[in-house]
Amino acid sequence: MGAALLFSEFEEVATGRASGFRPIYYLGCKAAFAAAIKSAIDEVDPSGGRALDLFAGTGVVATYLAADRDVTTVDVQEYSRVLCSAALRPVGVSLGGIEKSCERVVAARWQAAWCFEPVVAFEEEVIVDAMKGDVCGLIELLESPPLIAFSDEGQRVPDSRLGCAIEETISRLTTTGLSKSEGTLVARSFGGVYFSFKQAVVLDAALSVAQAAGEELQDMLTAATLSTASTLVNTVGKQFAQPIQPRTRSGIVKPGLAKTVYRDRSLDSIDVYRGWLKKYSELPCTNGRHQAVRSEYVDGLLKHGPNCSVVYADPPYTRDHYSRFYHVLETMCLRDNPSTSRVVKGGASMMSRGVYREDRHQSPFCIRSIAPMAFEALFSRARQFDLPLVLSYSPHQEGDGTHPRVVSMKQIVDLAERHYRRVETRAVDGVKHNQLNRNGLKLKMRDQAEVIVKCFV
Ligand SMILES: C[S@@+](CC[C@H](N)C(=O)[O-])C[C@H]1O[C@@H](n2cnc3c(N)ncnc32)[C@H](O)[C@@H]1O
Repeated sequence: MGAALLFSEFEEVATGRASGFRPIYYLGCKAAFAAAIKSAIDEVDPSGGRALDLFAGTGVVATYLAADRDVTTVDVQEYSRVLCSAALRPVGVSLGGIEKSCERVVAARWQAAWCFEPVVAFEEEVIVDAMKGDVCGLIELLESPPLIAFSDEGQRVPDSRLGCAIEETISRLTTTGLSKSEGTLVARSFGGVYFSFKQAVVLDAALSVAQAAGEELQDMLTAATLSTASTLVNTVGKQFAQPIQPRTRSGIVKPGLAKTVYRDRSLDSIDVYRGWLKKYSELPCTNGRHQAVRSEYVDGLLKHGPNCSVVYADPPYTRDHYSRFYHVLETMCLRDNPSTSRVVKGGASMMSRGVYREDRHQSPFCIRSIAPMAFEALFSRARQFDLPLVLSYSPHQEGDGTHPRVVSMKQIVDLAERHYRRVETRAVDGVKHNQLNRNGLKLKMRDQAEVIVKCFV
């Protein structure tokens, strides 16, 4: 049966505010500040008109606002569009519908599961060995590049049991015509590196099921797969920037390595996927007028600004590009077999250990020399449509583990004041709201978790 027919198995769920829903582990997720952001938005724009969330990320703020206003989300990344679309236009799914989706995923994976059997068997064996104290095989697996390094880039397959398993898998992929297929992209590119091979095969199958589904369901099923990937990923902090390093810089095996790997890689992907489908299906039903768009922020503002009455902006503030931390989710949405970035090591050029997309997005907000101009464009374009604006700013504190901000709070307020009649800042610690005066900004901000900048027209 075609996955499109699933829609008839779905039912509506209650309306209300989706509070506390976090689709993925995400740096700088604003869920804790959503209520404070909403009250700032209501203050600068009491009309209750459509809000334009320009750097929507996980969509948690947009989803919070959506109970009271129409919302349009914009983000340059496709994975953000998918997450926002699924949360803003939820499709209620019956328990029977959820089970059918899971059955389809199980059925869709059989051919790839056969191809990856040799590396899955190797992986399961070395994890068991590692739990018993022998970590040699596990270290070889964790230090190995992904399958595409051997199949697509001609890297020499090691002369070892892992090497034999890799060769056999590549041979099976070639025999079945799956060696370049989008249906095996996650397992070929990220299996063994970010997920177990077995989990990666299920993620591929879930993406195929989503792709085959009707338009109404596609984003929700893809979003549930992204959320599953975020739960499964075997890294410190659940990001996709740095695969697990089994040894310290001095070459010593990291304590707790086997447990860390076992904890994530033994998770049953179908169970996790089922749990996420349930969470998405329980999201409150919305009015259906919400929109999720993939676009650069200026284009988004020019196109959608005229239909909105207020802008919420939460751009990045450090030199860390979000695209480095979430590139796997982007590739899972685009399914485009991207070229991967390369590094030079010991004079030889090789695939980056993080298997980053070569074309991953470089945000102007993360580049010190152009970030002020990016803010200038934001304020001037929003003002061009007479749109009041609320901006989130996360201050940096010495020793908080983050990089310093590429623009200071003062620079931002100065830029905003060139375009807006009145600019006010409010520090928020998640519970209390403290009004800051202009002169006291710097000192007081240090003990605050978030600052909200309100720009009145
Ligand atoms: C701080 S995060 C937003 C977090 C979001 N408020 C949340 O709570 O999940 C910044 C977002 O800006 C997006 N972004 C960066 N540069 C952009 C640009 N030039 N145009 C549109 N979006 C951009 C990134 O993809 C990222 O999702």
